[in-house]
Amino acid sequence: MSDPTRPPAVGVLDQGAALTFPPGFLWGAATAAYQIEGAATAGGRTPSIWDTFSHTEGRTVGGHTGDVACDHFHRMPDDVRLMAELGLKSYRFSVSWPRVQPGGSGAANAEGLDFYRRLVDELLGHGIEPWLTLYHWDLPQPLEDAGGWPARDTAGRFADYAQLVVDALGDRVRYWTTLNEPWCSAFLGYGSGAHAPGRTDGADAVRAGHHLMLGHGLAVQALRASRPDAQLGITVNLYPVAPATGSPADADAARRIDALANRFFLDPVLRGSYPADLRADLASVTDFGHVRDGDLKIISTPLDLVGINYYSRHVVAAPVEGEQPEAYWRAPTCWPGSEDVRFVTRGVPVTDMDWEIDAPGLVETLERVHRDYTDLPLYVTENGSAFVDAVVDGQVDDTDRLAYFDSHLRAAHAAIGAGVPLRGYFAWSLMDNFEWAWGYTKRFGMVYVDYDSQVRIPKSSARWYAEVIRRNGLAAQ
Ligand code: FCB
Repeated sequence: MSDPTRPPAVGVLDQGAALTFPPGFLWGAATAAYQIEGAATAGGRTPSIWDTFSHTEGRTVGGHTGDVACDHFHRMPDDVRLMAELGLKSYRFSVSWPRVQPGGSGAANAEGLDFYRRLVDELLGHGIEPWLTLYHWDLPQPLEDAGGWPARDTAGRFADYAQLVVDALGDRVRYWTTLNEPWCSAFLGYGSGAHAPGRTDGADAVRAGHHLMLGHGLAVQALRASRPDAQLGITVNLYPVAPATGSPADADAARRIDALANRFFLDPVLRGSYPADLRADLASVTDFGHVRDGDLKIISTPLDLVGINYYSRHVVAAPVEGEQPEAYWRAPTCWPGSEDVRFVTRGVPVTDMDWEIDAPGLVETLERVHRDYTDLPLYVTENGSAFVDAVVDGQVDDTDRLAYFDSHLRAAHAAIGAGVPLRGYFAWSLMDNFEWAWGYTKRFGMVYVDYDSQVRIPKSSARWYAEVIRRNGLAAQ
């Protein structure tokens, strides 16, 4: 993705061969609080922007909300037992900010923190390493009412919240990531409006992105001061961006989208600066007046690891008058200052999200971060696919999802072979859940959830993944 003249790669790596991963490779699965917990008003929890958004007519498919979701809040011990049965070495979950600090300021809510204490204890009791994400998109509604992420004060509020969580869980949780996918929070939340809080202002999206990173840096400093031995990082969602053709105009379109999608976050966090071309592309949107002296130093506070979420590749072309794609994260309003760039589909196989399946893109992404940005250990903190599932005789045979995981694990292995210090992989997701604006209509889980009965059924991919973990690699096919 750093070479905009390179054509997009398609294919599968090392297909069929047995592959072994390095000893100690951290095999996990991921979830997020609002997507699975439910219990929206239990134990003093107050609304987040996702409660408000999902309860607003027309915002989610079918008007679905996370009120009940997978009812994980009440079924947590059984869910942890399921993780243990699958042999997970680690579980990546997020803490719900409005559960542990209702309203987003002031004292901690002991009842809310207690849920996460019990979760962590259950995990440790089963030999599963807890991996805690502080922010997976559920900003307390009062903080949005006070301006949300476009307001600078939210960054400080986030660091205060981080302190409450580390005070409660710092003795038992070793791996901490601050933000999950700040691109989505900023550009889907405040740009396209497809995600909560549903605002649509390019300048606000850019400000939100900056304040999210500022909050990240302040939180890292707070966590580091409290727990010098903790492993601290951030999770970014990265995409290789390829030009549709070899034309200079398409190369420029790829450069622009790469700047907004990837370098907007990688450069400040890992280099302490915004890319000059990004600033120039955004000149009509913002003068970057929200960036104060010292911010970039805070944002680039040293980390111990980088988490990367990988799903697909962007292929883009130069603007053509009157042509725009419609997919939600390809919508023009996601890309302030570069609204006219066209997103091109290649006709390769797609998932139920319409995301093109592109395993080699994972190798490119990991290699790029290692080569261009950092020697830090890298983790794939999310990777997975939605497909339509059918329950037949009480079983779900999800061969498409299994093949997706297989091809991406081959890609992960290839990256390690190329020298990338990749230390772990988290499947998205442990179980089917509330897929944001898509509600319950998209299933990403390795475990099927019947939302009426809350029965969990491990799919074929879950059984396969359990075997991958047991072998520490892939069997020959
Ligand atoms: C990522 C999110 C995660 C889930 C997957 C499919 O962008 O981090 O919560 O929605 O996509």
